[in-house]
Amino acid sequence: MTAPASAAPTTGLRFGEGGRCCGACLTPVLAGEPDHRDEVQTDEERAANNRMTICCSRSRSAELVLGL
Ligand code: FES
Repeated sequence: MTAPASAAPTTGLRFGEGGRCCGACLTPVLAGEPDHRDEVQTDEERAANNRMTICCSRSRSAELVLGL
């Protein structure tokens, strides 16, 4: 799946209870640079850029390829 950086992914998923990230939507990142906005992954996991929470994070790159 590819989408412009400005497009928000439509997953049908919602934040976990209380509006907090739960990690249920962690998705493989195949290419591109995520803009991580979750509190689920560690700093090291976010720096690896190989998974992202697609309900709340965005893209820093023009193209982001996800393993859906
Ligand atoms: S659905 Fe919980 S972090 Fe995305």
